Amino acid sequence: MKVSVIGAGNVGGTLAQRIAEADLADVVLLDIAEGIAKGKGLDLSDARYVAGHNRRILGTSDYKDISDSAVVVVTAGLARKPGMTRVDLLKKNAAIMQTVIPLITEKAPDSIILIVTNPLDILTNLALKLSKFSPKKVIGMGGVLDSSRFANLIAEHLDVPVTSVEAMVIGAHSKGMIPLTGFSKVAGKLLSNIVSAETCMELAHATAQRGAQIVASLGQGSAYYAPSAAACSMVRAIIKDEKTVVPACVYCHGEYSIEDACIGVPVRIGAQGVEEIIELDLNPKDKETLINSAQSVKEAASNLL
Ligand code: APR
Repeated sequence: MKVSVIGAGNVGGTLAQRIAEADLADVVLLDIAEGIAKGKGLDLSDARYVAGHNRRILGTSDYKDISDSAVVVVTAGLARKPGMTRVDLLKKNAAIMQTVIPLITEKAPDSIILIVTNPLDILTNLALKLSKFSPKKVIGMGGVLDSSRFANLIAEHLDVPVTSVEAMVIGAHSKGMIPLTGFSKVAGKLLSNIVSAETCMELAHATAQRGAQIVASLGQGSAYYAPSAAACSMVRAIIKDEKTVVPACVYCHGEYSIEDACIGVPVRIGAQGVEEIIELDLNPKDKETLINSAQSVKEAASNLL
């Protein structure tokens, strides 16, 4: 089993490490900057002995090396700088997507493509159109990361183990995300029954701000430990055919009254990619936010074609 990671920067390099050390698959780490990919590939390979796994990690800039990949994860692109919104990144990262996706479809036509590059929702819509792949096989990683951030903030606020929290964030991977306080639980109890509506809103707001908070603190670059962990969990769900339900940016065709757009919704993920879209009974406000987000990312993506 092989997983390729396009973009050997902070997210891509850390993701390659996580995949190999979790013994999920051999990894091809590809970057336009050949030296970075090669150097990280050699370094990660040297770590195999002490890390205790036999996975091969190849650093390359040659797309022929990604052939036969089960999953190709796209992390290539610029990371946000302080003061930069995800939308500021759009033009540059869309141009990168326009070069990368056709090469993936040519060299790894049977793969599942997992988009990580931001702005996530617009680029997932764009990648689906550019690839001409089945919509089941093009997935964006946003909701798992946002849910992990939400879960962490809930756990810290209540001083409970994060493992006792079930958190779900759907919608766009942006400030317009929808942390579902009415579907998130702590030790089996609904969050909305444990904390006040005001606290729910504060936790939701802090979740939506978290990426920008990290960008501002780092001074350069953007988050990569949690993004790579989220992407790795999705790679695992596909490789191991786990069929777990996670929020992910996928193509909706009538679900949630969304027509022909990729947006973050709960989905069952397995070896075939998106195996089912789960329709939650959302409150009218969240449903409206979701539909509006889908419409705006769809328009933004079609303006790029
Ligand atoms: N093909 C392959 N690799 C490319 C290309 C390309 N056309 N263009 C850029 N890259 C590579 C860069 O050379 C760099 O090594 O993508 C890598 C990006 O790495 P970083 O700058 O460290 O960015 P990172 O933090 O990894 O974030 C990458 O993931 O979470 C998102 O918002 C984040 O969009 C950003 C992406």
